[in-house]
Amino acid sequence: MNQRAKVLVSRRIPQPAIDMLAARLEVEVSEHDRPLTPEELRSRLAGKQGLVCLLQDKINEQLLSAVPELKVASNVAVGYDNMDLAAATRRGVLLTNTPEVLTDTTADFAFALLLAAARRVAEADRFVRAGRFTEWKIDLLLGQDVHHATLGIFGMGRIGRALARRGGGFDMRLLYHDATRQPAEVERELRLEYVSKETLLGESDFISLHVPLLPATRHLIGAAELAMMKRTAILVNTARGPVVDEQALVDALKAGGIAAAGLDVFEFEPRVHPELMQLDNVVLAPHIASASVATRRRMAMLAAENCIAALTGRIPPNLLNPRVLEKKRL
Ligand code: GLV
Repeated sequence: MNQRAKVLVSRRIPQPAIDMLAARLEVEVSEHDRPLTPEELRSRLAGKQGLVCLLQDKINEQLLSAVPELKVASNVAVGYDNMDLAAATRRGVLLTNTPEVLTDTTADFAFALLLAAARRVAEADRFVRAGRFTEWKIDLLLGQDVHHATLGIFGMGRIGRALARRGGGFDMRLLYHDATRQPAEVERELRLEYVSKETLLGESDFISLHVPLLPATRHLIGAAELAMMKRTAILVNTARGPVVDEQALVDALKAGGIAAAGLDVFEFEPRVHPELMQLDNVVLAPHIASASVATRRRMAMLAAENCIAALTGRIPPNLLNPRVLEKKRL
């Protein structure tokens, strides 16, 4: 019988995914309840062909050059800005991610942040807990209507479209901007209006970000863009922190340039800008948009499936760099 390939799981993931890996591969799971340091990752990968990793693990040239036996790095996430695609492709290492299984769960959370920021849910909770609910008042904690308002979506991929469906359920006008335009039937079905970045910024009551983090999307929302938004606008970010210039956002929120924000991700995560912590018109969450029991389990299972496929001679279902296989065939 062939020797089983060896795989490192860089941090505890749901047990069914470990069991699935263990049925086909020799598995080592990090015992630490923290990310491995780059040195630990390097040394524990020695002699292993597979890695199941999380967003904090940097799969870069430095790591890849030190672990020549590695054949696949399987991210338990849809975003893969922690991975250097070009370096991995050069070195013949397959990279995979976990799309689709988290689409609706993430869109649910983006909409939850939107509603919470609009209707001041977190602030109201703090108000009641502080014992300040002493009477019904006509002007207590007034928020903004979501229904029939205009929702502007940056990035119309799977999660952007899922958010649009939710917005449609609230009778919202739906604007979007992206590098590529959706087919006409999708625009029709979802009632989407494709607009310029400037129109989206100027006309939206709510702006939600659903772009990957790329050089072109870093600080997509900076001081200039915030200045173009309505003073009543609410910004929601469940994409990646560096898509927003966090200092510029703090300045706009403090100066009343925009009304509020709902943030699941931060520019220097897990550090949160100290001034954001002080602001009442911000709802903060610790990068949990995909964190439902079922979805986190599905993500781990899919990452395991990707890893097993790569190490047992099949094409992983969510291969990010098929060039590696093309190069091998040449
Ligand atoms: C989480 O942020 C993910 O990319 O899946």
